[in-house]
Amino acid sequence: MSKVISGFSKFSKEEKITWLAANYFSNQQEIIKTLKQYWNEDSALQQLHDDFIENTITNFYMPYGIAPNFVINGKEMVIPMVVEESSVVAAASLVAKFWSTRGGFKASVVSTKKIGQVHFMYQGKKSDLSTYFEAKKPKLLEATAAITKNMEKRGGGILDIQLVDKTDDLSNYYQLFVTFETKDSMGANFINSCLEAMANEFRNESVEIVMSILSNYVPECLVRAEVSCKVEELGGDNPRRFAKKFEQAVKIAAVEPYRAVTHNKGIMNGIDSVVLATGNDFRAIEAGAHAYAAKDGKYKSLTHCEITNGIFKFWIEIPLAVGTVGGLTALHPMAKLSLDMMNRPNARELMEIMATAGLAQNFAALRALTTKGIQHGHMKMHLMNILNQLGANEQQKDCIVKQFENKTVSHSAVVEAFNQLKN
Ligand code: MEV
Repeated sequence: MSKVISGFSKFSKEEKITWLAANYFSNQQEIIKTLKQYWNEDSALQQLHDDFIENTITNFYMPYGIAPNFVINGKEMVIPMVVEESSVVAAASLVAKFWSTRGGFKASVVSTKKIGQVHFMYQGKKSDLSTYFEAKKPKLLEATAAITKNMEKRGGGILDIQLVDKTDDLSNYYQLFVTFETKDSMGANFINSCLEAMANEFRNESVEIVMSILSNYVPECLVRAEVSCKVEELGGDNPRRFAKKFEQAVKIAAVEPYRAVTHNKGIMNGIDSVVLATGNDFRAIEAGAHAYAAKDGKYKSLTHCEITNGIFKFWIEIPLAVGTVGGLTALHPMAKLSLDMMNRPNARELMEIMATAGLAQNFAALRALTTKGIQHGHMKMHLMNILNQLGANEQQKDCIVKQFENKTVSHSAVVEAFNQLKN
């Protein structure tokens, strides 16, 4: 019998769960119990979460950790991170401490422009379209006046509207290419509302609007974060060799896309964690970051490294369209707490913090990769996960962690050690 259902969203939460359990599980009672186990006792708080999306049946926990010891532009701060990967917060904290005694992180916003497009088809003469566009331009702005009023009071709004001819790429295809400043909001709703109002004003018998939507490619909403110190200050047995190898690792990621993707994934471990903790849109950030990494026609590293005159310099340049007002940042109590923890940054400051988290994460990964190898640290955290899965108590954990201090962690070796200990 088909499980395709109509009117599902109208079901109560209980009904949805019962339907799911009956149609997709054999152990129905167990499933229902697990789902309900994650409901919040505070019904108002649960309702808040239920209402974020449609068909909510429960909550999905992710660890919320904090990385202390960050010094960014001279300010000490603790960064909240939501991530499931065991070594990410540990790595961020270690690196934050490392750089805190070497001048800290310096971060600055390069630009904050965002982009939206009205995509349309037009078959007539291009010169007629240009004339129509020039005559319409003031009306396009007028059409958005009600939407832009508040944004303009905050110093934002529409910066520019251009007519773009894309007919070389696709017959009859043109765009209105619009640039926005959205200040402390990510601005997706604002931009999309403006674009739709413009599209309505712009359409006529020969202008066929296809769609109006913001772009998540924001190469001009750019932030830079950097660390630097004398090579000797990098510490370790042989700081010069370390610096050189580190630089080589970054250069490999600049020329080798297979490596660049993993390199950038490590950066996004740091950035996405903060994006999630602050209630921002990690899919938008991911899409924009990777598009930027490919801006020169080849996918490359988002970080760069240079050693000149005995100075080691490592930096990131990345587009980050984020908000500190509106959206989930205002609605989700934990997103609000994250922002409060960081002394309520504005969007520019949050861009700087996120870029710093990405740079720190990449430093940690490359330091591990070019020295002890990545598995050393990963496996320590992995060991804890395996022990938790096995249901080890604190005493058993301590004992097995000691046993594996100088041993390679593998799932089977840990299971064996645990079984031996139990027996
Ligand atoms: C793992 O999540 C991230 C790394 O693979 C990043 C890297 O290789 O640079 C360790």
